[in-house]
Amino acid sequence: MSDQTTYPVPAAWAKRTRIDEAAAAKLYGRSLADPGTYWLEQARRLDWIKRPEIAGDWSFDKADFHIRWFADGKLNASANCVDRHARTHPDRVAIIWEPDDPAEPPRRYTYAQLRDEVCRFANVLKAAGAKKGDRVTLYLPMIPEAAFALLACARIGAIHSVVFAGFSPEALAGRIQDCDSSIVVTADEGRRGGKRVPLKANVDAAAAHAPSLKRVIVVKATGADVPMQAGRDDWYRDLAEGVPTTCTPEPMGAEDPLFILYTSGSTGKPKGVLHSTGGYLLWAAVTHELVFDYRPGQVYWCAADIGWVTGHSYIVYGPLANGATTLMYEGVPNWPDASRIWQVVDRHKVEILYTAPTALRALMKEGDGHVQATSRASLKLLGTVGEPINPEAWRWYHEIVGGGRCPIVDTWWQTETGGALISPLPGATPLKPGSATKPLPGVDPQIVDSEGIVQQGAASGNLVIARSWPGQMRTVWGDHQRFFETYFSTFPGKYTTGDGARRDEDGYYWITGRVDDVINVSGHRMGTAEVESALVLHPQVAEAAVVGMPHDVKGQGIYAYVTLNANETGDETLRKALKDWVRREIGPIATPDAIQFAPGLPKTRSGKIMRRILRKIAEGEVDALGDTSTLADPAVVDDLVANRVG
Ligand code: WTA
Repeated sequence: MSDQTTYPVPAAWAKRTRIDEAAAAKLYGRSLADPGTYWLEQARRLDWIKRPEIAGDWSFDKADFHIRWFADGKLNASANCVDRHARTHPDRVAIIWEPDDPAEPPRRYTYAQLRDEVCRFANVLKAAGAKKGDRVTLYLPMIPEAAFALLACARIGAIHSVVFAGFSPEALAGRIQDCDSSIVVTADEGRRGGKRVPLKANVDAAAAHAPSLKRVIVVKATGADVPMQAGRDDWYRDLAEGVPTTCTPEPMGAEDPLFILYTSGSTGKPKGVLHSTGGYLLWAAVTHELVFDYRPGQVYWCAADIGWVTGHSYIVYGPLANGATTLMYEGVPNWPDASRIWQVVDRHKVEILYTAPTALRALMKEGDGHVQATSRASLKLLGTVGEPINPEAWRWYHEIVGGGRCPIVDTWWQTETGGALISPLPGATPLKPGSATKPLPGVDPQIVDSEGIVQQGAASGNLVIARSWPGQMRTVWGDHQRFFETYFSTFPGKYTTGDGARRDEDGYYWITGRVDDVINVSGHRMGTAEVESALVLHPQVAEAAVVGMPHDVKGQGIYAYVTLNANETGDETLRKALKDWVRREIGPIATPDAIQFAPGLPKTRSGKIMRRILRKIAEGEVDALGDTSTLADPAVVDDLVANRVG
């Protein structure tokens, strides 16, 4: 699958770049040789209430485990993303909002308008009782108010916890309860690809399982008629009436939490990944500028959803901290048709486009005509994130979308890392399709074998990061022990990413995918344990095991082996019922692509399910099952192979 063609930096880029290959190598070397000086220098790009004098202060060792950056500094993230630009460039457009329906006009907010909106929202939250350190859950569609709400929380020091608007009421309730949040901000409905999502109704359903919830603030997005519960629910519009458009930003310690974002792990329920104010914001800003070579005035579009970390770091915090013009799109790339994404590029003269391989694969299937019907002349740089990009999709993006003139920055990172860690710099790094290329300044990746032995030169194994960087998550909300165990106990003294990687002879990294029980469906992380828990809640299901399977568009699909209770029969009706069940329990992104009814699962004599075998069968590699002699009942494997689905 690897393609060894190297694409040099295009001539036009080599001419305009601020950092060429030699400068990039120098910068990287300096960042590791003298991190204290390097990071204090970088920190100057932020507007501090009290400028920090110490950079990193951390240890990944069990005895002295701690991670702190700029701990003596004070700042406010919303003042950095809004006020300072509103002062210097009040009329510059901060946010361009493109609605789901192309017949509707886009909206634009200048930095001065953004400041007013954020302050107003902040005052509404304050009046609703939100204070520094409180958790506020945001369950919003891709409307400008989502950005206002994030920044409003940051302004008053409340910790936002965004829950992706595609998650079910059950998933929402779990996330509200886990961080004990008493306020939810939502909308009457969301819109995506011409369809409506009943967000307020979902909050109502979640409230039944979320006793901590006291107030619901509802943004009117579609005007749908939704029931409002007196004493609990209010329209944002009513609360905002006559509210002042000034609000003094709360001085925050750099280590004070900025937000929580739940993400799937290999075991248990989703973890509340907690990010800090100073280190996170700096990481988002530095990487946004370096990776996208962002220059003031350029229209930049990250086509992610605010419900995921990519939306946090690269729609809101990174670009706005840099005074950029960031485009926010309400809809999906292929609605009303497969030209839409390119039409949006043309309509707003987008110069930098950042999207996911899964979207590209879906669009690629629709043929080149949809692309060629548009100009895309404004595009200068393309980016991808979320999963490895297959060279075929890479070349299509490069040739057909970018006309061969735009570098592609393939950015590897995770919810936990706060922003990109491995990525090309567009004016400096020769590209190899499918490789995220090299670490960014301050990032010290290593490849270790299963014993933790560091591999030199060209090698494959587990990807770990050997030192802290400012954007690193600080804890798992409410469970610091789990934070340590999950990320620092497998390979002591190092941050374990959970990804496998290969490093080639040029020092380029090729991410090979997760090495744990997390699967990557359309660039979204899904814990197999979560889908299993949902399945076994069904009254007819005795046991379930979920693994990833190859999928043309999604990258990985969800393959579920289900053992039914005695006397139940698996048929098409039940299969459909189970898929609907999981959709309802978690959300549409967790819907199994294939369900195989299995009379038994392959287990060791001690009762452990042998997932390796289940993965191989799901992948269709039935001749490579390996040693099955340690199974309690080797015969179950024959049945699984014979009744494979798909
Ligand atoms: C995968 C998304 C290959 C990886 C920002 C990681 C990638 C997980 C890439 C994190 C990439 C992300 N190439 N794989 N460019 N980017 N991944 O937390 O497996 O939603 O561990 O963060 O996505 O997913 P998450």
